[in-house]
Amino acid sequence: MTESVLFTGIGQLVTMRGPVPRRGAALADPGLVRDGAVLVRDGRIAAAGPRRRVERLREARRARKIDLGGRVMLPGLVDSHTHLVFAASRVEEYEMRIAGATYEEIARAGGGIRSSVRRLRAAPAAELEGAAEAWLAQMAAHGTTTVEAKSGYGLNLENELKILRVQRALARKQPVEIVSTFLGAHVVPAEFRRRPQAYVDLVVRRMIPAVAREGLAEFCDVFCDRGAFSVEQSRAILAAGRACGLEPRLHADQLARTGAARLAVEMRAASADHLDHVTRGDIARLADSDVVCTLLPGAGLHLGVPQAPGRALVDAGAIVALATDFNPGTSPTLSLPMVMSLACDGMRLRPAEAIAAATVNAAYSLRRHERVGTIETGKQADLAVFDVADYREIPYYFGVHLSWLTVKRGEILYARSPVLARPAGRRRL
Ligand code: NIG
Ligand code: FE
Repeated sequence: MTESVLFTGIGQLVTMRGPVPRRGAALADPGLVRDGAVLVRDGRIAAAGPRRRVERLREARRARKIDLGGRVMLPGLVDSHTHLVFAASRVEEYEMRIAGATYEEIARAGGGIRSSVRRLRAAPAAELEGAAEAWLAQMAAHGTTTVEAKSGYGLNLENELKILRVQRALARKQPVEIVSTFLGAHVVPAEFRRRPQAYVDLVVRRMIPAVAREGLAEFCDVFCDRGAFSVEQSRAILAAGRACGLEPRLHADQLARTGAARLAVEMRAASADHLDHVTRGDIARLADSDVVCTLLPGAGLHLGVPQAPGRALVDAGAIVALATDFNPGTSPTLSLPMVMSLACDGMRLRPAEAIAAATVNAAYSLRRHERVGTIETGKQADLAVFDVADYREIPYYFGVHLSWLTVKRGEILYARSPVLARPAGRRRL
């Protein structure tokens, strides 16, 4: 048995305990414990609560103590929408957009996702793996302990498998938990431009079965939007995925209102993401469903467009999650604290709601809620400590790096204090 560790001196312990998933008024309840402590054994939480109660346990008295000096501890953050594996930035398009070109104009001219596809196809797997591993370490340095990662820059069998195999290799060799999603239907690749239906057939008949056979993904996603896939095509692809055991998720109504959010409800998708253009009717349907509404304010900021109606979704009673959408085209950020700031400032979410959206609800959308997303006895010891005295200061100080300690299954992934961090940067507790 490994040594037990007692995290003590937690000024605010944000447990997020309570109903899962969270919606309505319950979203704003952080399950706060002041002056808390958390006892960790074998990578799991053995006890969590008021310091005086936890410290009285016999095991706690023998445990190694890490005093957090009054800082704030959250559940390890869960990033439930990323495009982690890509070959290069699209910084040239960034400048074009600053000068006035739109995302869709650039895509129609052969840039956008298709430009990332050209570069990814040319990149060796080892190179992609090295880059993604470095990004994962950065994510951990911002408090993230679980990451969903989508394929979608390969767009043929060989290269979609290349991405998903990189993700599997990373899941095995580094400690941040990775949940894989197959996004072969990101856009129609250039070589199928004149026969999009043939590409849909390829995704349905060859790619999905191959991905499922190798056990490379848990979810199947489609970019159902103007310039990408129609509602009918998306329905066929998601149904094929489900028949092979891949649960649906959906990029929905980001660029235009196409009815994708309604498709997500119809298909009982795990998540409908973006939702910039949903109508009041769509919001009511989403709120009446168990589909998680994953909001991605990094994309709204980076594209310079109005944010999705986050406040209206929360008020209607929808299950809301927040994610970075980390990708080179629309959201080059991997900081969930920054995304929380954008959700509070630009969507009028309250800090406690933003934290619930990036922990417990995000975990639910990835079907990991029984193990991650809250700080409760029996859960994985996935913990994120911030160098603040009040949890509301995490979104309040926007763009400021406040992560102080990140722990995954009891292992330190990131520590600002040199006393806790070994030269290798990681250690088992
Ligand atoms: O989530 N909208 C589609 N997919 C990504 C953008 C990908 C890209 O531009 O490379 C998104 O915003
Ligand atoms: Fe995306």
